[in-house]
Amino acid sequence: SAAEKGGYDYFMLKEIAEQPKAVADTLLGRIDAAGLLSLDEVRIPVHELREIDKVVIVACGTAFHAGLIAKYAIEHWTRIPCEVELASEFRYRDPILGARSLVIAISQSGETMDTLMALRHAREQGSKVLAICNTNGSTIPRESDAVLYTHAGPEVAVASTKAFLTQLVACYLVALYLGQVRGTKWGDEIQAVIRDLSQISGEVERVLETMEPVRELARSVASKNTVLFLGRHVGYPVALEGALKLKELAYMHAEGFAAGELKHGPIALIEEGMPVVVVVPSSRGRSVLHDKIVSNIQEIRARGAMTIVIAEEGDETVVPYADHLIRIPATPTLLQPLVATVPLQVFACELATARGNEVDQPRNLAKSVTVE
Ligand code: G6P
Repeated sequence: SAAEKGGYDYFMLKEIAEQPKAVADTLLGRIDAAGLLSLDEVRIPVHELREIDKVVIVACGTAFHAGLIAKYAIEHWTRIPCEVELASEFRYRDPILGARSLVIAISQSGETMDTLMALRHAREQGSKVLAICNTNGSTIPRESDAVLYTHAGPEVAVASTKAFLTQLVACYLVALYLGQVRGTKWGDEIQAVIRDLSQISGEVERVLETMEPVRELARSVASKNTVLFLGRHVGYPVALEGALKLKELAYMHAEGFAAGELKHGPIALIEEGMPVVVVVPSSRGRSVLHDKIVSNIQEIRARGAMTIVIAEEGDETVVPYADHLIRIPATPTLLQPLVATVPLQVFACELATARGNEVDQPRNLAKSVTVE
């Protein structure tokens, strides 16, 4: 009913709008007065966390993309090698697991069969399993050694939005917590990131306030057949997520690529007027990647692409090459996905509407896939 949708036409719009609160709620009570993480709910003894020699993340769909982003954070802050694998592929290749492996199963519903089977396989090999889940008491957390709940609230729309942002927050909390309990040379950085994380909900809010041009843009490309997405570093999984959203909602051919791979194939796809969304890394810090992606934008534009550039406020170098420029607040590199994904959600949702598709219940899809 309209009341359930809180005055929005679709649950997806409501859930997109709820993201600042969902992000804040997922942080609530998990950072103490001294600015340190207190994650008592992660009931894996600290001495065991100190022994972990490998992290393996398993998930499906949008949760898998959260895992791909988490890998950058976990490896950077903890120096523990981290693999990310689609749950449906994981156990069939006889993965190398042991008592010192930490397996993280990410699932909004907690009922995805492939993810459940992957975690059962991991526990049979003696690995510890930590669930990151949005649904209290669901099967995946019940069968895990520990759980860190995301506090997104119920997510009804099939295409995941607020659950994704909170999965990212939960993954960062786990990465920072592992860094904290194990000790890391990034001690100061961890404190700073915790501070930045506690401000990120306000930044997500600011992005939401500036989405009207993104909706207009979506309506103007509604008759196109293909949209490509490019990103680098954590922007690469963001590109994959942007493309997934478009497939799910707009039923368009959409693909995400690592921008560095452009010359190894994807650039052959570029045709006159083809929309290409580019997620530009921060111009601070990793400026090498920033400059490389700016060259990519020039290369695809020279071949006729319609460039839709997502770049942080104050980045003027992209202006001459952007047919459409979507601004996001400047954040530390690893936190950028929390703001960069939001315009892609809005874009896909508006495209679905413009193409006359059912937003909350896309054809052929289910909210939770409980069969293998
Ligand atoms: C389905 C949903 C997706 C979701 C995926 C994983 O495909 O349509 O939105 O990302 O399952 O679901 P989970 O509940 O495990 O996060």
